[in-house]
Amino acid sequence: MAMRSHTTAIPIRRSRRRSFVNNNAGDKPSRVPRRHKDERVIIMAPVGRDAVAIADLLQTRGFETQILQGLDEFSRQITESASALLLTEEALESARGSLILDVLKAQPSWSELPLIIFTSGNESHRTRLLDLAAAAAGTVTLLERPVSSLTLMHSVQVALRSRRRQYEVRDLVTQLSTLNQTLEQRVAQRTQTLRLLSAELSLAEERERQRIAQVLHDDVQQILMGARLYLRTLGKTKNAAKQNRIIKAVEEMLERSFNLTRSLSAELSPRVLHESGLAAALEWLGTQTRKHENVQVIVEADSSANPKAVDISVFLFRAVRELLLNALKHGAGSPVHIAMTSAEVRKVRIVVADRGPGFDPDMLNSHQTGLRGLGLFNIRQRMASIEGELQIKSAPGHGTRMILIAPRERHRKSADSLKKLLKRRNAEANRVS
Ligand SMILES: Nc1ncnc2c1ncn2[C@@H]1O[C@H](COP(=O)(O)OP(=O)(O)OP(=O)(O)O)[C@@H](O)[C@H]1O
Ligand SMILES: [Mg+2]
Repeated sequence: MAMRSHTTAIPIRRSRRRSFVNNNAGDKPSRVPRRHKDERVIIMAPVGRDAVAIADLLQTRGFETQILQGLDEFSRQITESASALLLTEEALESARGSLILDVLKAQPSWSELPLIIFTSGNESHRTRLLDLAAAAAGTVTLLERPVSSLTLMHSVQVALRSRRRQYEVRDLVTQLSTLNQTLEQRVAQRTQTLRLLSAELSLAEERERQRIAQVLHDDVQQILMGARLYLRTLGKTKNAAKQNRIIKAVEEMLERSFNLTRSLSAELSPRVLHESGLAAALEWLGTQTRKHENVQVIVEADSSANPKAVDISVFLFRAVRELLLNALKHGAGSPVHIAMTSAEVRKVRIVVADRGPGFDPDMLNSHQTGLRGLGLFNIRQRMASIEGELQIKSAPGHGTRMILIAPRERHRKSADSLKKLLKRRNAEANRVS
């Protein structure tokens, strides 16, 4: 439904009832208000040329006006461009007036369209009007006719100021909800990635268990079974030379199975770590890697920085082994330097550095995280659980420095924070599913 928009000045005439505006020469013209794209004064005055007269006056003072005609359009304008509703008491008391009040009642929570009502009745009439309007609008101004143009301008300006603040709130609400949506999307994405990674981590652990089971089954058990067969044969053999050969073979078999189980247990957790501490275990790791991988590994580990808690030592050892493996795998044969020192507030700091091709650490934060590998993710998660951290300093063409910083002792607090982390993860996972 169309509304009439006035852009040309129409002289103010007296309505057939009473003049609205006492536009006498004594009134000083109000300052032309600052125009705002959302600012439009909606006018509803069904009698005579009242609406036109008010619109003219406001327009000559720089206000944008519209005479209300359609209710549908009005309810759309309430959230988009209406800044004040100016209406006469006749309009309010008409059947259409009660529909207008219904539209006002249905305003969104940020909106309280200011109402300016022209009235001419007595005190009790005004009170009734006020009650009627206040049930639907937050800000109501009653102007008694005849109204001076100065009073009208001032009232409209006050209404527009209050409305401007409402539009600011509307914009903030919109921004907040967009931000909220983005955040929720990010949390969902991240939770999805974490789930994927956790699943992959479980798979990797399962693969490792299978590998160990395979070594035990295919190598150790086969050798021991062979030894048992030999020993049975030994019981039936009288020939001394044959007996000696069997005993020698069994000895060799036991030696092989001993070596196999020793390297398996060293792989899982070397004895030197428990007997002599982390610094010695890192030296051992360096020696083993040099021997088996033919790569230069320099280890400088200060034993006075050894962690006091065994689980921290075990974890840091595994983390360094993973970082060393990364340096071998991705570092293109560059020498690897491992250094362990004390850090401030009873902490230990371990640097694993290589001069290989390096990489951009930002790629680890992309959506593809985890699809590239699990080693660093795993280290990060475990470091967080002991209130430590992993810092990655790398750039393409500039080598890689991985820095582990961890407390030397296990605090009760860190055990608690691990519990909290797990609880939060579970809650997040439940929310998304
Ligand atoms: N020392 C390094 N030099 C160059 N790139 C590295 C180095 N360490 C890690 N990266 C890069 O970071 C990625 C992630 O490492 P991460 O250890 O998490 O996974 P991965 O080694 O590829 O696989 P996984 O550890 O699961 O076997 C690697 O794929 C590699 O691109
Ligand atoms: Mg790796």
